Amino acid sequence: MSITKVNPSRPYLHYAPEKNWMNDPNGLVFFNNEYHLFYQYHPNGTTWGPMHWGHAVSSNLIDWEELPIALYPDQHGTIFSGSAVVDWHNTTGFFNDGPGLVAIFTHHKETDSGIVQSQSLAYSTDSGKTWIKYEGNPVLSHPSNPDFRDPKVFWHDESDKWVMVLATGQTISIYSSQNLIHWVFESEFGTNIGSHEGVWECPDLFALKVEGTNEDKWVMIVSIGDGEGLAYGSRTQYFTGSFDGKAFISEHSEAKWLDDGRDQYAGVTFSDIPKEDSRRILIGWMSNWRYANQVPTDGWRSQMTLPRELTLKECEGHTKLVQHFPKELNQWFNHTTEIERTVDSSGINIDVEQGPVYLDLNTPCPKSGELQIALNYSDQTHTVIQFNFNEKKLSFKRSNSGKVDFSELFSKDQELFFRDLTELQLTMVIDTFSVELLLNEGEYALTSLQFPDESLKDISLKTDTGEVLIKGVVKQ
Ligand code: FRU
Repeated sequence: MSITKVNPSRPYLHYAPEKNWMNDPNGLVFFNNEYHLFYQYHPNGTTWGPMHWGHAVSSNLIDWEELPIALYPDQHGTIFSGSAVVDWHNTTGFFNDGPGLVAIFTHHKETDSGIVQSQSLAYSTDSGKTWIKYEGNPVLSHPSNPDFRDPKVFWHDESDKWVMVLATGQTISIYSSQNLIHWVFESEFGTNIGSHEGVWECPDLFALKVEGTNEDKWVMIVSIGDGEGLAYGSRTQYFTGSFDGKAFISEHSEAKWLDDGRDQYAGVTFSDIPKEDSRRILIGWMSNWRYANQVPTDGWRSQMTLPRELTLKECEGHTKLVQHFPKELNQWFNHTTEIERTVDSSGINIDVEQGPVYLDLNTPCPKSGELQIALNYSDQTHTVIQFNFNEKKLSFKRSNSGKVDFSELFSKDQELFFRDLTELQLTMVIDTFSVELLLNEGEYALTSLQFPDESLKDISLKTDTGEVLIKGVVKQ
């Protein structure tokens, strides 16, 4: 194998700021034919610091153009996470001339008597290019709760009002408003339900049709900050249930997990995607609070996940969130190679060229034994994806994937347990510093960073379970 250094030293397909620190996606909104991605940004360093809202736009969800910082700290504090909406009917009174964008975000202030978090507004009359902070900020405060943040707002047609879900410690509080300015408390969700191993952050709430039915269900997404009890650092749980404009009722009490990998956090969905399109698209922060400040990147730190289109599917009596890469991703690959190969214990190799790789593999699911897929970077550097069919377990092994020693957790295996499957369907997108893996048509997801020093040379497959016919495609 010849050795080529990874080039470029940035992701090809994933959004990362040109320089300095980024965390959560904020204010995801579609307006005037552009997707807006705002994000938690520290412009003066490569570790977390006083937060601003960075800004990027895209016409196709993959190719992002970084714009000037949208929101700077002010007398009320630094700018924590939040959302953005289109105020189509000028409910705020901010727009005299057609609809405009409103950002609803948390002001975070550290005072002598403790942390104060409150919700504030900013609006834009030029499609998001420049922002004016509302003079009456903040619009929603709490007298004593220091964890009062990350407002996600949407227009609820049935009750004809704005709804806000807000992270309030270990619960999500729901508020409503006619004008985004005056907010009324409606209900609190989360006591004795789900996982409470860390602080609740970055909620989202939306309705989705259950595939193959005429039924809509509501989905509440809640991220959980890295806490003592969390073996794997920060993670995202979700609930399915109903919402009547006031309260969300979950139909289950155990948390469901959005992703079995370690690097999908604070994911939220786009607002105002046109009804004709009707997709619900999520972007997450591809990192983990356990090691986010240490990941070995040069001059910039953190990437977003690829956008994920969400749907709901009934699987063995449970309603599950299913994830797909959006159709826009296809246009980034120039050629497609079909694969139809028999894999056995002597193994096969799939050649790849430099650049991102999209892999889609299908095989009848063996009932026992193992199948191993190795992403080979050099003779010593491999990421290994191992299926154990007896245990119905996928292990994602990145302990020899390159730089791993910046965090104890980073090199530990990631595991995903799958149900009885007749077909094994696997989609993977391998970028410079990440692998996003979807199993069984997106029913399971595993998102993982990795930091190889060299570029991907080939992908090898082998199995100890006799002969396995693998069909699929590689796109490059
Ligand atoms: C989640 C989070 C949010 C907060 C932001 C601060 O990662 O902790 O709760 O608003 O990051 O940067």
